[in-house]
Order: sequence, then C-alpha cells, then structure tokens
Amino acid sequence: MNENVTILNHPLIQHKITMLRDIGTGTNEFRQLIEEIATLMGYEALRDLPLEDIEVRTPIETCQSPIISGRKLAVVPILRAGLGMVNGILNLTPTAKVGHIGLYRDEETHDPHEYYCKLPNPIEERTIVVVDPMLATGGSAIAAVNFIKEHGGKKIKFMCVIAAPEGLKRLQEAHPDIQIYIGHLDRGLNDACYICPGLGDAGDRIFGTK
Ligand code: PRP
Ligand code: URA
Repeated sequence: MNENVTILNHPLIQHKITMLRDIGTGTNEFRQLIEEIATLMGYEALRDLPLEDIEVRTPIETCQSPIISGRKLAVVPILRAGLGMVNGILNLTPTAKVGHIGLYRDEETHDPHEYYCKLPNPIEERTIVVVDPMLATGGSAIAAVNFIKEHGGKKIKFMCVIAAPEGLKRLQEAHPDIQIYIGHLDRGLNDACYICPGLGDAGDRIFGTK
C-alpha cells in the first residue's frame, strides 16, 4: 500500500457495505446503499477540490468567500455499475460534469471491452473522479484511466466500494500517479475473477438483471 491509496474505513461506510454484501438485499435497497456509500466516500475523496472566491453579502457586510468550482470537476462512471455511484457524488457537487466509459468484462478471458466513451470537453483542467463499485482484476479501471489520459486527463482519482488486492496492485503499477479510494479491501479473486467475499455482480444487483 502506498500513500496514493486510501481505505475509507468509516463505520458508516463499513455498515452499508455489509448491507450491500447480503444476498437478501434487493435491487431498490442495493441501489440506495451504493449511492449513499458514494456520497460518504466522495466527502473524503473530494477534500482537495479546487475552490474559487465569490463575493457574498451577509446581513452584516460583503465579503469574499469560497465556493466549489463545479466547472473543474468531472465524474466518470464505468458502465454499467459505476452509474450507481454518480448521483452519490452529484449530491455533493451538483454542477460537476459527467462523462461515461462503457466497458464489459469478457466472461472467459475477463479482459475489458470498450463499447462507449464520452468525456466532458475540455478535460485537461478538471479533477476527474472515475467511479466503479468493483475493482477485481483491475482490467476495467486500467482501461478507463488509459482512455482518460489519452484524451488529456491529468488529475485522476479512482473510487471503488470493494477492491481485490490483485486489482489494486495492477492499477497502482499501471497508474502510479492516480489517487485510489476504496471502501473495503477484500481477500482476493476466485477462479471466475469474482471478488471474495465481495457482493456478487454489482451491475446485475444495481439493475436487477440476471
Ligand atoms: C464489473 C465492475 C467493473 C469490472 C471489474 O463490470 O463493475 O467494471 O467488472 O472487473 P475487473 O476489475 O476485473 O475489470 P462488468 O464488466 O461486469 O460490467 P457491468 O457493470 O455492465 O455489469
Ligand atoms: N465485477 C463484479 O461486479 N463483481 C466482482 O466480484 C468482480 C467483477
């Protein structure tokens, strides 16, 4: 583990992750929990967001006071499951722009395949928060960050709810310059490259598919 990795082991986050893991948690509750966790994680991950001063008139006098510069933030979910985290971040920063990176894992090889990508333009000056509930082999996260860098993104944060040590190691090796925020670091991957104990297929649980 290096200083670029933060495990957000706040009791509220840990409690909600336990609810997420439960096989008995249905789609509606699962969606709500993912969004709430993203908000709690975002609170910490966005502590270095750029501010700009505006003039504000208080009942006493006029002063300069800082606001978050929404023009400088982009949230980029990895589809599909990352979509479940977007509103959680937008609850904190409603004016952030939203990009999308569509990737799915091949069931046999577990390699990511790209099917849709659209980023806010220009992207160079923005803090970019890539969101995906699961970091398993790391293939999808690495491909998403590659894509963002190819389009000029520089200040990149990756936020996931659950990570496997294998994926974290690969992501750190591929992109040592990004900040990584994790809700819980699990034991590892099984033969099908699912995270153990994990929570199953995040996309299917968010969207009620399968
Ligand atoms: C899941 C998850 C990540 C990816 C993680 O998506 O949401 O994007 O797998 O696995 P990796 O670290 O081994 O790449 P999936 O490909 O199942 O697509 P979905 O979100 O559309 O269900
Ligand atoms: N993707 C998921 O949704 N879950 C896993 O455990 C691994 C990859």
